[in-house]
Amino acid sequence: MKRIGILLSGRGSNFEAIADSVAAGRIEAEIAAVISNRPTARGLEIARERGLPAVCIPSKDVPREEYDRLIVAELKSQQVDLVCLAGFMRLLSAEFCQAFPMRILNIHPSLLPAFPGLDAQKQALEHGVKISGCTVHFVDPQLDAGPIVLQAAVPVLENDTPESLSARILAEEHRIYSEAIAVVLAGRWRIEGRRVVVD
Ligand code: GRF
Repeated sequence: MKRIGILLSGRGSNFEAIADSVAAGRIEAEIAAVISNRPTARGLEIARERGLPAVCIPSKDVPREEYDRLIVAELKSQQVDLVCLAGFMRLLSAEFCQAFPMRILNIHPSLLPAFPGLDAQKQALEHGVKISGCTVHFVDPQLDAGPIVLQAAVPVLENDTPESLSARILAEEHRIYSEAIAVVLAGRWRIEGRRVVVD
């Protein structure tokens, strides 16, 4: 059985959707570790309510390289096969990425490479795009830049606010993150250049 490690910082709705997919057998794996860098993350509570192994490793005032070594050690001790960032509000060091080559996924609420970074939905609205969406991608040390596994598009409506657009995108996030995890864990993909080809 493959083992998934989840890293989060907040609400945890993507983590919850992944946990639902595991419970329903849409993802054949177990959640071996849920790690938050913030003690107050709602995602930690959700994990505990579900009886999943949840730990907080606080990042405040810890230098990045040192912090990442702590996280990698925890993930390795839980023998994690795939790391899923689910609203984890930190850049990963090169050392972290090298510890799990092509085995770290992230979800981002825009159609990358458009609107990387914070407040992607607000960026999309302010730019005036008519279509936005979400992206699941492999993680490298650059922000929101690694090879793309899956994307989903949603319309941007004339009267959208950042909140209404975020909600429309979030529903798609919950759907495609589980799908991408299933594809990656099953090895139903290969890489050509920076293009991920899903079989
Ligand atoms: C999501 O919009 C995700 O795309 C972004 O951070 C947000 C996390 O939300 N990376 P949640 O904690 O999964 O509810």
